[in-house]
This record gives sequence, C-alpha cells and structure tokens, in this order.
Amino acid sequence: MASSNGTSSIVVKLERVSKVYRDRYAVRDLDLEVREGEFVVLIGPSGCGKTTTLKMINRLVECTSGSIYVYGQEVHSLNPTLLRRKIGYVIQQIGLFPHLTVAQNIELVPRLLGVPKAEREKRVDELLRLVGFEPSVFRGRYPRELSGGQQQRVGVLRALAANPALILMDEPFGALDPITREQLQDELKRLKREFRKTIVFVTHDMDEALKLADRIVVMREGRAVQTSPPEELLRNPADDFVREFLGARRILRHPQDVQVREIMLTTPVTGTEDMGLAEAFQKMQQHRVNTLLIVDERSVLLGIVTSGGLQKGIREGGRRKLAEFMEPVTVTIAEGENVLLAARLMAENKAGVLPVVDSRKRLKGVITKATLVSTMVDVLWPSGADRIENGCKVARG
Ligand SMILES: Nc1ncnc2c1ncn2[C@@H]1O[C@H](COP(=O)(O)OP(=O)(O)OP(=O)(O)O)[C@@H](O)[C@H]1O
Ligand SMILES: [Mg+2]
Repeated sequence: MASSNGTSSIVVKLERVSKVYRDRYAVRDLDLEVREGEFVVLIGPSGCGKTTTLKMINRLVECTSGSIYVYGQEVHSLNPTLLRRKIGYVIQQIGLFPHLTVAQNIELVPRLLGVPKAEREKRVDELLRLVGFEPSVFRGRYPRELSGGQQQRVGVLRALAANPALILMDEPFGALDPITREQLQDELKRLKREFRKTIVFVTHDMDEALKLADRIVVMREGRAVQTSPPEELLRNPADDFVREFLGARRILRHPQDVQVREIMLTTPVTGTEDMGLAEAFQKMQQHRVNTLLIVDERSVLLGIVTSGGLQKGIREGGRRKLAEFMEPVTVTIAEGENVLLAARLMAENKAGVLPVVDSRKRLKGVITKATLVSTMVDVLWPSGADRIENGCKVARG
C-alpha cells in the first residue's frame, strides 16, 4: 500500500505515545515501528498496557500524547470507523455476536464495506476451508454451537474476512487448552506466511511469543523494556525483568559465550606418578573412567594414563608404577576459553578427555565428551521447550 510520507515499508509507527487514565500512565513514551509483513508480539504482565497499545492503533482508545501512523498516515487525520474497517482486529474475548451465525459473523466487515453478497459468500467459504471447517456444516451454526477453539477460529477468520493487510490480535488464543492453542498458532503462522499479513499480536505467554514473533516487545508498566527478535531476546535479555519473564533456564546462549569453567567437571579423577597399578586400576573402576590424569603434589598436570595401557602393564606383571605408563598430554584448555573451542579440541583429541589447566599447568577440571554433550544441551537448549531422551528430541512433558 502506498503511503503519504514515502515510508511504505513501515505499516505502524508509534512515536512517544502515552495514554493516561486518571493521572496514571497505562502506556508511557512508547516508540514502535512495525514493518510490512512483520509479526510483532507485545508481551508483558497483566496491566502493562498491551491492550491499550493495540486499541490506540485502531483508535478504539485515543492516545493522550504522541503520534501514531498507520501506512504513513496519522491516525487522527483518519475517520476512525473507516480506519477500523481497514484493520483486522481480534479482541481479547472472542467477541462473536451470539445472535449471528458463523457466516454472518465472518462477513460482518465485508458487508459494512459494501462487498456484494455472492462475493461475500464465496469469501466465507474460502475462509472456513482455510481452517478445516466444512462450509455446509459450519456456515449456519451459532457461536453457542461451537467449542471454544472453534469460536476462536471464527474470531480469527472474521478479522481476515475483509482481507486487511494489517491485523491486531489481542490474546486471541488466551482461553484455549494447550493443544487447540498450538494448532491455532500453527494455522496462524501458515496464514501469515501465505498471505503476508502484518500482525501485531498480544500475549502474556512467552512460548507463544517465541514461536510466532519476528520481533518481541517486552512491556512493563506501560513502557517497552526490550524490542528484539526472539533469538536476540533469549541471548541477550536486557535486564532481570526480561530474564525472569523468559524463565531462567530458557536463556539461549551461543557456545562462544559459554566459558569452559561453567561446564567443566571440577573433580577430575587423578593419580600420582608413584601410584601402584592395582590401586590405579581400582580407582578407575570405582569412578567408571578409563583415564587417570597424573598430577604432582601441587596439582601440576604431568600426563595421562589410559585403562588400555594399564591393563597391558598388569598382564605383564611386576611391581611397577604409573609413571612408566604415562603418556604426555598434548591438548589442554584454559577455564576462560569458550565451549566451541573445547568441542573442537575434543574432536581432535583421541583420549576422550580434555584437561582444563591454569597458566602454571595446574589441573582445574576436565571436560569429557559426555559432559560436553549434556551440559551443552542444558546450557544451550531452551529447556522449557523440549528435552533430549535416549538421543531423541521429545515433546515437552
Ligand atoms: N478504560 C480504562 N479506564 C481506566 N484505566 C484503564 C482503562 N483501561 C485500562 N486501564 C488501565 O491501564 C492499564 C493498562 O491496561 P491494559 O488493558 O492495556 O493492560 P494489558 O497489558 O492489556 O493487561 P491484560 O494482560 O490483563 O489484558 C491498567 O492499569 C488498567 O487498569
Ligand atoms: Mg489486555
């Protein structure tokens, strides 16, 4: 759509927008730009101003100060009724008219816009099929004859009916059970992809936001605390509030940002040069490891003994010491290095363990393949979403 000020790719723009109710800010100094085709999600605790923000865009609520542009036009220069008909809107409660059928609910705005009857009917059927509703079955039903999820679908279809390029959705799936909710989220994602709508969507569910959003606006007490794409939000939460909202264990981190000291085992299984073979072997069995890191009395790493070498020594007999079976350690890593480097060194390292040492070669910890894998999963995987079991990704449980 063309715009009057040449910024055709910006569909919605808020400039220092505030809304005051009885001396209290519902929204305060909010800046926001929504680009064409973008899916922007407003998220935040109850009362933080999400609904107020949406309603100021289609002028169901008038802002106290600041400017709001839709397709480059200041909304106050537009007729509010016409503005609203141009913008799809799904309200916080489903809001179907109970005395109108499904078809009548959906074709409401097209009818107000004067779309001819035949065209409207065709459109209603198309839309119903879009969400898997057989038109002959659903067209004539009343909202009370539908489940909550079905009503919600009709609410979404109604917002799509006049084919608006911009849609505002206020917690459209808030009241639904988790399964229906996920189905509708998937449908919405597909619709958005197919029809390239611009969507401003309100939720207080972070999973929903992360799944749907191109960008997430985290709101608190009427202000935007952070506006970022989901991945950026997970990687770099702006403050504790955002972090808390994300859920502490969900923070997604890049392997480059995770230090070796965060994931290393701090109690490596060690031996000394003068240790006897039987004792060493027993220690390995007891700790279920197949290597011993050999250190001196100041914990300086001297070398490594493997169970293979040790078994050979025991077979050959004789009272011998570990020192004779010790191999040099060629690859070590420092605590401050990152996990990506550790993984790379590990891949090159036949021993299967990577000793962590300080600048004086003192042993500080160890990284094994198993710890690398399991801690990588813990640290890097958004744990709220899925977990790993027997090597398979399994659904949340
Ligand atoms: N018509 C009104 N009159 C007075 N205060 C209002 C009015 N509408 C909203 N508010 C207040 O403005 C603040 C923001 O309300 P808003 O409805 O935008 O919150 P929200 O983020 O959508 O919350 P929820 O998640 O509960 O829907 C709240 O403190 C609310 O009480
Ligand atoms: Mg609300």
